[in-house]
Amino acid sequence: MLGIKQIDRSTSLSIKASRIKRNIWDLDTVLPLSYILAPQYIELAPYTVHTNFCHLLSRDVYSEGDARSLYDYIQSRGNEMSPEFLAMLDFWLADELKHYEALRRTYHCIAGVDFAEMNRHFAARVHEIEPIEMVLTDEFTILVTMMFDEIGSVYSYRRDLWEYYRHFGTAIQKIGHHLVRDEGMHFNNAAELLLIKHPDRLGEVPELLEQISALEKSLRKYHKTFFLDHTQEQYRFPPHFNSVLIRFILARLGLGIQPDRSELQELWQWVPAGYQLVPIFTGDGDR
Ligand SMILES: [Fe+2]
Ligand SMILES: [Fe+2]
Repeated sequence: MLGIKQIDRSTSLSIKASRIKRNIWDLDTVLPLSYILAPQYIELAPYTVHTNFCHLLSRDVYSEGDARSLYDYIQSRGNEMSPEFLAMLDFWLADELKHYEALRRTYHCIAGVDFAEMNRHFAARVHEIEPIEMVLTDEFTILVTMMFDEIGSVYSYRRDLWEYYRHFGTAIQKIGHHLVRDEGMHFNNAAELLLIKHPDRLGEVPELLEQISALEKSLRKYHKTFFLDHTQEQYRFPPHFNSVLIRFILARLGLGIQPDRSELQELWQWVPAGYQLVPIFTGDGDR
């Protein structure tokens, strides 16, 4: 259904050997298309929790769907990439498109937006590769960027789970849990491929991560190509968010010491002074 190519036996064996992992879950079991949210969840949730969640979903739904455009771009340069990386990317796309559909269903339940409207919105998106070309130089830079992006998503969804998903019943909460788990596996899979396929380039990782972080900060908006989508919500995270993530990534690759537990907790528990809930700023231009 998702256009995933058949992975040949030798590639699937090498994927196994490289310890690529997947979180297997069935969206139709967790949140069927016909699911109707009990009205009391919306009645009982604090007003700002509901309105913020609607705004948040209006961005997150489509960012997940943007995975298709990044995938197509990488496939267009497939002859430069290793079979193991391309095989991992097929699994990754299947997960991201499942997230897209999971968030469409969640958005429909929470905000009442119909699927035809979401289709129209998504079809009108313009995906611009050029502003993020630097991170797409080759398989190595793509994998490092994937680590950066996916671990950012882990902490972002962890915050969202705590602030929003958990208020709207077991099914919606489970979606939040699966998002966190899947993004964590994408992070780990990218790490495994970097360690196995590019051990000679690990010395370049620290500087590249600094460049990726600087690029994210310099982009004035999210360009709808999946990577660096947190450009549109940097205000939701503490100022040192990226520097802690970079240390976490370096530790995963055996290049440094992992941040301590309290530093990691702060990534998703931090709230700006004067607020109880991180505010959500909106604007059509940055969705
Ligand atoms: Fe995702
Ligand atoms: Fe992901």
